[in-house]
Amino acid sequence: MNNISKIFLIGLLIIGFIACQDDLPNMQSVPHQPELPAQHFDYMQVMDQVAETFIPGTIDVDFGEEIFINNENIFGNVNVRTTVSSDAMATLGRVLFYDNRLSKNNSISCASCHKQNKAFSDDVALSQGFGGKLTKRNSMSIVNPILNSTFFWDGRSSSLHDLALRPVLDHIEMGIDNTTELVNKLRAESYYPDLFKDAFGDERIDHNRTAQAISEFVASMFAHDSRFDEGIENNFAEMSELEKHGMALFFSNETQCSSCHSGPNFASPTSSFNNPYEETGGTTNIGLDVVYDDPGFSDGKFKIPSLRNIALTGPYMHDGRFDDLHAVIEHYNNNIQPHTDLDSKLTNGGSPVTMSLTSLDVDALAAFLGTLTSKSLMTEERYSNPFKS
Ligand code: HEC
Ligand code: HEC
Repeated sequence: MNNISKIFLIGLLIIGFIACQDDLPNMQSVPHQPELPAQHFDYMQVMDQVAETFIPGTIDVDFGEEIFINNENIFGNVNVRTTVSSDAMATLGRVLFYDNRLSKNNSISCASCHKQNKAFSDDVALSQGFGGKLTKRNSMSIVNPILNSTFFWDGRSSSLHDLALRPVLDHIEMGIDNTTELVNKLRAESYYPDLFKDAFGDERIDHNRTAQAISEFVASMFAHDSRFDEGIENNFAEMSELEKHGMALFFSNETQCSSCHSGPNFASPTSSFNNPYEETGGTTNIGLDVVYDDPGFSDGKFKIPSLRNIALTGPYMHDGRFDDLHAVIEHYNNNIQPHTDLDSKLTNGGSPVTMSLTSLDVDALAAFLGTLTSKSLMTEERYSNPFKS
């Protein structure tokens, strides 16, 4: 064998070795790089969806137990709070939302605690932050935030833009010290300059732009295709008797569920007109405890959360104390605790109400809540993780 063939052979061996290495599940050989579609997904559709979905009016539903669903009450007061300005902006936001580089030690992204298959909530009472410490409260699901005016369990944030960097700089959640550290971390990744340029027209990376992109991606998350939404169109033809009975209870004066969980999101009212919860940032006290360790907004008042996708987002309440919907409903049924700040809708002559729901009623309410689950949100590719490794 002459020298040239030796070199050739050695060359082949080296190439073969490298090729084999590529087949090994070697994490380090896989670059940290988002895989994005050649054409942006359509995020702007949310603006049309919001406009088309909620048309005020009154619907008369009759299925034996006659109830009136006042559509103005359910779907009225629709106020769009944020806009999604372009598909490129939301695409950048998607990458940021899923990028663990937004945490101190590259271990946590927004999606660690807001999982798509759980309607962007977490399946544990308290979630782990970047250093293994637990969050103080239960991770919230992200539901049609474009229509929301207050955020967090205590209602302390009033815009998505304001909210977007709080988890990043939180010492338990993602642990970045300051916005300079954040911007430096993002500048170190090869894929960001192009993504920022696409979204903003030039490559400059700063924290305001980062917050805007995250908030617009989050604002694009929209779900209005539950079985309940379809029922509005076809007089609830596809619902079972049990689900309809639960719906009747939900909208009844007996339970008052819909007077708090109201509007398009089944959440605290968002309008500023005649809104009893305006002063408290959409929060109220539902008598979970006599004495509160966590005061929430104040005196045990917590946000009236959306019930869309609720079947997927347990455990429930601000501290994740209830594992399933039956336990939540039993709380309202016969376990409301007396408290000076207890919401008057849950009192009767000054004492906590008892609703006298039978076990069938409890099943029915839980079944009705199950009809609020979106058919697409959990699987839409445009909201999914672009980092494949
Ligand atoms: C370590 C877990 C964790 C991480 C990481 C995290 N969150 Fe959260 N998120 C929570 C918890 C817990 C709450 C409730 C906090 C509270 O009320 O005090 C929350 C609340 C929210 C809400 C409010 C929802 C509502 O309806 O009021 C939004 C929106 C949100 N997070 C978005 C994000 C974004 C965007 C990121 C990434 C930049 C992120 N979160 C990272 C745990 C986390
Ligand atoms: C007075 C207003 C009010 C009424 C009436 C009310 N709720 Fe709630 N609901 C709330 C508030 C506030 C919370 C959050 C409390 C907390 O975490 O401390 C909540 C939480 C929930 C949760 C858990 C949400 C989550 O994300 O963890 C469910 C489920 C729920 N309510 C269902 C119902 C049902 C069913 C009814 C009727 C039987 C009802 N609610 C009546 C205000 C109300």
